[in-house]
Amino acid sequence: MTAEVATPEENLALLKSQYPEPARDENGMTHRERFERRRLAIGLFLPTLSGGGSGHYASDLGLFAPTWQYNLDCARRVDELGWDFIFPVGRWRGTGGRIHFHELSLDVVSLTAALASQTERCMVFTTWHVSYGYHPMHVAKIGVGMDHISSGRWGLNVVTGWKPSEVQMFGLPFRDRAERYRMAGEFVSMLDRLWAAEEPIDLEGEYFQGKDCVVTPDLLGGRKPLIINAGQSEEGLAFAAEHADVVFIQGGSGDRSDDVEAVREVVDRVRAAAGSRGRRLKVLLPVVMLVRDTEEEAQALRQEILDHADYEAAQNTINGLTEGSKSWPDHTLEPVVLGLGGFKMIGTPERIADLLEQLGDAGVDGVQLILFDYKNDIEYFAEKVQPLLEERGLRDILPPR
Ligand SMILES: Cc1cc2nc3c(=O)[nH]c(=O)nc-3n(C[C@H](O)[C@H](O)[C@H](O)COP(=O)(O)O)c2cc1C
Repeated sequence: MTAEVATPEENLALLKSQYPEPARDENGMTHRERFERRRLAIGLFLPTLSGGGSGHYASDLGLFAPTWQYNLDCARRVDELGWDFIFPVGRWRGTGGRIHFHELSLDVVSLTAALASQTERCMVFTTWHVSYGYHPMHVAKIGVGMDHISSGRWGLNVVTGWKPSEVQMFGLPFRDRAERYRMAGEFVSMLDRLWAAEEPIDLEGEYFQGKDCVVTPDLLGGRKPLIINAGQSEEGLAFAAEHADVVFIQGGSGDRSDDVEAVREVVDRVRAAAGSRGRRLKVLLPVVMLVRDTEEEAQALRQEILDHADYEAAQNTINGLTEGSKSWPDHTLEPVVLGLGGFKMIGTPERIADLLEQLGDAGVDGVQLILFDYKNDIEYFAEKVQPLLEERGLRDILPPR
C-alpha cells in the first residue's frame, strides 16, 4: 500500500499555518488596533541625526551623535512606558555649519528592523525614500520581513525626497513634485498588489515594471501595513488622501509654530482632502517639547538653546527646505533652531497638558515628541505629563471607528 501524498494545495496550507497571527495585548487588541483607537497617541521622533531630532543647534551645550545604542535605549524605554509609536527621521545629507548639523545620520531601514525586534508593543514606522532607486519588489519583500519581526506593528512612511543634493547621489534625475508623487502613487499601488496577490503578477507601470512577481510569505493576519505620508503640498495631500492611512502634518511655521489654530487649518485641509474620497486619515503632529517644573525654567532652557545656537547651520537648513519644495513656508530662524517642523510647546506640565488637549480638540489624533535631551526628557514626560493626560482621558481607547 502506498502512503497518501499531500497535494500541493494541502502542503501550501500546511506551510502557511506555521506562521503566527499578529501579537495581541492583555486586552486582546492587536498593537495596531490600540494605536488606531487611542484618543491621543504619543510617539517618539527618534534621534537619528547629529544635533538630535529636535533640531537643536546648541553646539556649546554638547554635541549629540546619533548612535544605535542611544536609539535602542530610547525606543525600549518608551515601549515600556506605553507610548504608541516610534518614528525615525530619514536623511541622507546634513546641513553643515560648525556643528555638522544632521551630517551624521543613521540608516533607518536597518535601525527600525532592529528596533522592531527589541520592542514589544509600540508601532514601528520606517521612513523610506521610495524614489531613491528602490523597486516596489524590494520594499514589499522587506516590508513583509518588518511585519513579521514586529509581529504586525510595522508601518511604512512614504517620502519622496525633495532635495536634488540627495537624489543626485543615486545617479537619478531630480523630478518635479507632481512627478515625484505620481511615482510614489504608482509605487504604493504596486505594493498593495504585491502584498495582496495570491498568484504571480506582472507590473506594468510608467516607472516600474516586473514579470511574474511574487512576494512571500504572507503578511501576518493578512492586513496591509499602515501607510504614512508627510507631504503638505496639494499633490502631497492628494497622495495621502488616496494612499495613506496616517498623515504627519507640520506644526505651523514661523510665528505660527505654537498656534493651535494654524494646526486646525492643516487638519481641516487633510480631513477635506480625505473626506472627498470617503476616507478618514489619522493625523499626527510632531511637537517640540521643552517642559520644566516652572514657566521660568522652561523659558530659560529655550533661551539657553537660542543663545548657543549655530545660526549658520539653521540658515542652511532653511535654504535646504526650499531646495525642491515649497511646502515648508515661512521658516524663520528661531523656530527652526528650537526644532524644525514641530509645534513648539514650552512650559510647565499643566501647560503642556492644556495644549495637548486643545490640539486633540482641533482634530489631532497623536503627537510625536521631539525632545531636547532625549533620555532625561522621556523620564520627565512620563513622570510629570503622562499622568495628567491619563487624568484628562486623553489616553483612553476609543470605540472602533
Ligand atoms: C513631520 C514631518 C516629518 C518628515 N520627515 C521626513 C523625513 O524623515 N525624511 C524626508 O525626506 N522628508 C521628511 N518630511 C518631508 C516630507 O516628506 C515632504 O517631503 C515635505 O513635507 C515636502 O512636501 P511636498 O513634497 O508635499 O512638497 C517630513 C515632513 C513632516 C511634516
